[in-house]
Amino acid sequence: MTRMPADQPKAGKLVAVASGKGGVGKTFLAITLAQALARAGQRVLLFDGDLGLANIDIQLGLVPRRDLAAQFDQPGGILGAIQPCPSCGFDWLPGRSGAVGLAALPEPALAQLLGALRSATSRYDTIIADLAAGIEPPARRLAAAADTLLLVATDDPTSLTDAYAVLKLHAADGGGTDRAVVMNQVQTPAEGRRGFATLARASETFLGFSPRLAGIVRRDPRVRDAIRHQTPLLTRSPQSHAAADILALSATLAAPRSAVARIAG
Ligand SMILES: Nc1ncnc2c1ncn2[C@@H]1O[C@H](COP(=O)(O)OP(=O)(O)OP(=O)(O)O)[C@@H](O)[C@H]1O
Ligand SMILES: [Mg+2]
Repeated sequence: MTRMPADQPKAGKLVAVASGKGGVGKTFLAITLAQALARAGQRVLLFDGDLGLANIDIQLGLVPRRDLAAQFDQPGGILGAIQPCPSCGFDWLPGRSGAVGLAALPEPALAQLLGALRSATSRYDTIIADLAAGIEPPARRLAAAADTLLLVATDDPTSLTDAYAVLKLHAADGGGTDRAVVMNQVQTPAEGRRGFATLARASETFLGFSPRLAGIVRRDPRVRDAIRHQTPLLTRSPQSHAAADILALSATLAAPRSAVARIAG
């Protein structure tokens, strides 16, 4: 195993959870993955990057103490809005704004936000950014700056088509090459593998690269139940299929990277 020199702090990894089509399960996966990594001993920050329509707080029953938009010009900066989620085991950076529409963040503010997230990699092992669905500029910019693009899709043909569009734009935007797909809400693992194979074939043929399969998460009624009770899945239903699938996914993500950390400039 390669050791880092003692004087070189190890930078954490920025993971962007994205999708083409909305409602595929990004927020749920981002939360549960954050909880799984925290349980494995990692220091984890969950950033609600679905700016303006943020809903991590809704799924977890949390109340943001500070408005992200108001933090931009504060001495503590954007990271001053980080607050702990004691029952989750990770920290949380809210994206909700009462005053300013964050959804259409102008480029200088986006760059400031990215700089803040990058600087936070010295404090956290993993930063998970839950992005807005689709291909609007803030989601594209955050995805392109991440070390890992975690693209969530279902085996629905429209979801796969929209996931392909995200891969295409991610490459065009100069995003990193660690592109991983999570097939979510599938009836069986075989269905997930088939859906992934369709996406990977199209990507290989038309884009010249293939993403890797990071994991398959089965459709599970316990997910809806956990969200309704505003409790993380691993707390409420640790024995559920979806919990087991996400724990397996988190082990894949936590594995050491073969490539050197790429913190986009
Ligand atoms: N594995 C699963 N099994 C069953 N239901 C699921 C699963 N994953 C997600 N869901 C359901 O899908 C719904 C949408 O989930 P979520 O809000 O996390 O999606 P999203 O991709 O973040 O949506 P948006 O694009 O609107 O931000 C949730 O209400 C949840 O109940
Ligand atoms: Mg969401």
